[in-house]
Amino acid sequence: MNRKVTVVGAGNVGATTAQLIAEKGVADVVLVDILDGIPQGKSLDMTEAAPVWNTSARVFGANDYGPTEGSDVVVVTAGLARKPGMSRDDLLHANARIVRAVASEVGKRSPEAVIIVVSNPMDVMTQVVFQETGFPARRVVGMGGVLDSARFRAFVAMEAGVSARDVSALVMGGHGDSMVPLPRYTMVGGIPVTEILDKARVQELIERTRNGGAEIVGLLKSGSAYYAPAAASAEMAEAVLRDEKRVLPCAAYLEGQYGVTGVYSGVPVKLGAGGVEAILELKLSDEELKAFQASARAVQEAVSKLGESKSA
Ligand code: 2OP
Repeated sequence: MNRKVTVVGAGNVGATTAQLIAEKGVADVVLVDILDGIPQGKSLDMTEAAPVWNTSARVFGANDYGPTEGSDVVVVTAGLARKPGMSRDDLLHANARIVRAVASEVGKRSPEAVIIVVSNPMDVMTQVVFQETGFPARRVVGMGGVLDSARFRAFVAMEAGVSARDVSALVMGGHGDSMVPLPRYTMVGGIPVTEILDKARVQELIERTRNGGAEIVGLLKSGSAYYAPAAASAEMAEAVLRDEKRVLPCAAYLEGQYGVTGVYSGVPVKLGAGGVEAILELKLSDEELKAFQASARAVQEAVSKLGESKSA
């Protein structure tokens, strides 16, 4: 096994991502966290599971970036979750500081890696990593659309009483309240969802998708979702490592596509060994395009806020 994935952050999302990558035998995994013993303990636990998983992948834990040297893929999950009394802006600034430091470390040690950013607010943190590493934009990509589309697919499958495997969907825009689910591109076994479910019901499922992260937080009470975010992150890592040329909705750096320039937002991309190898441009309706551009503007505003505070 000579491919290497670094997962930064050994919390629930990071550790579960590491598990999925190791379990599938896609690559060796280095799990990094600042908490002494946590990445070591979790990676030893996974190492002991490997014989039962029937995998040759090895998992290492570390508190420093030395062992991450030469990674093919880096998944960044580090950051704080929002705590009571903390505004989105507080989280934005706190996580930008953490993610900037992570980006600088991994950028130096794995200059050829594709970096997948999961930390929230995801679209903005992806841009932070892009700016901090100076990597070509195609090698910095954000995880949001795969998760949001998976949620929409799951809800459609539950409602239609069919296998989730047979539902495909596309959610564009930012990973947040302004995401843009596209029922037009949502299919149940190749049949448009609008022919299977009535319009009002589809709209309810869209709302549930928008609130998908919050719904889980509400149930768990402390902590947020991690099985689906980790599944989505591992799927993206595998697409890169196996050069699969998957077509997945990811946060990519836009340079004029969809009328947006200089900002990361969720669009369908071709994901392979080179990272974002192409951005697919769909013909959106005026309403869809407006919603998409508003979502990209929100990311741009947050990025500007960070820029101002950095230079202040
Ligand atoms: C989610 O949507 C927290 O972004 C994460 O569940």
